Amino acid sequence: MTQFSRLTEILRCPITHQPLVFVATNDIPEQLLPPGLKKSDISAGYLNSSKTYFYPIIEGIVCLLPAEQSKLHDNVKMVQAFYENYGWKRDEGGRFHDSSLFIEKRKGIEEYNKVCTNRIKPFLKPQGKYLLDVASGPVFQAENQALSNHFETRICMDISLRALAEARQNLGDEKAVFIQADISNLPLQDAVCDNVMSIHTLYHVPKDLQEKAITELHRVCQANENVIILYNWAWHSWLMNVLLLPVRVIKAIKRIFRYITVKPSERWLSGGLYFYPHSPSWFKNIANKHQLKISFHVLTAIHQDFVKYYIHDKWGGARVLRFIQHAEEKYPRYLGRHGAFAILVIS
Ligand SMILES: C[S@@+](CC[C@H](N)C(=O)[O-])C[C@H]1O[C@@H](n2cnc3c(N)ncnc32)[C@H](O)[C@@H]1O
Repeated sequence: MTQFSRLTEILRCPITHQPLVFVATNDIPEQLLPPGLKKSDISAGYLNSSKTYFYPIIEGIVCLLPAEQSKLHDNVKMVQAFYENYGWKRDEGGRFHDSSLFIEKRKGIEEYNKVCTNRIKPFLKPQGKYLLDVASGPVFQAENQALSNHFETRICMDISLRALAEARQNLGDEKAVFIQADISNLPLQDAVCDNVMSIHTLYHVPKDLQEKAITELHRVCQANENVIILYNWAWHSWLMNVLLLPVRVIKAIKRIFRYITVKPSERWLSGGLYFYPHSPSWFKNIANKHQLKISFHVLTAIHQDFVKYYIHDKWGGARVLRFIQHAEEKYPRYLGRHGAFAILVIS
């Protein structure tokens, strides 16, 4: 319980923005319990200072989403449903559906992906107290887990309880805490995290909420320290537009077909996870507007579709991948702007 009482130094109420006070089971106010929850389901929780809102801790996860789910944007609810009911469930081979959909599983490719994840490291402080990982997912890859080795506590935040339960199994309670929250309304006080990162998520946040999410990530980060966002440039990458033209045409036709034939409420089931990528110049404008510094660095110049369709052993795949890796190391800024996936560094 001590890790939860310590958290009061950084938490705030997502509705009133007041600090939160830790309350043990006996002091939980019955009348403020979220609908459908009994005291026996809860180990402890937090109250805002005017004692009008209560946030429970359930099975080691601090639930800091405002109780009125209806306040969430429809597309946020759709993404949450995708991850809760499908993305973070496992397929017959034991892989998460999300990984099967988006990550190529071949030996050489896995090695390449590890090298790319390690490109985040130089932008993190060598040590610190809190590393905030917003939309952490289950944190199942060793090189992702290692990003927080030099921090006292990794704060894993996600809108999906299933993701957080998996993350808790992977990281344990000693060096990590798990919080259910929305990226565009972070339940943290200003400037309390040494570094903030959000990996492969912002482009799943509704188009009009992405600016709010960026300012939230920046608000909770210490002054002059880095906020790191991994972003998919999608159709803003000229390199992938040229190399993947035939794949993109086929996918666009499939998408139109799905739009016509599937009910909106069921689109996520057939792979219609909400996605909207802004352009690099949109990010520059937002940074100027909020007086932030932003720079683009390559994560991977190539999209997973490029790997899937073009990188194969029989076509000299290993050599092609080595060439790409070499180009990424030589031109990190150029490929960070024109390649497939970028590390956005905001300070
Ligand atoms: C593509 S996964 C990335 C997970 C992890 N960062 C990784 O790279 O393995 C996206 C994650 O973002 C979470 N997510 C989506 N929208 C969110 C929001 N508005 N607030 C918080 N988390 C969100 C999802 O539940 C999911 O776990």
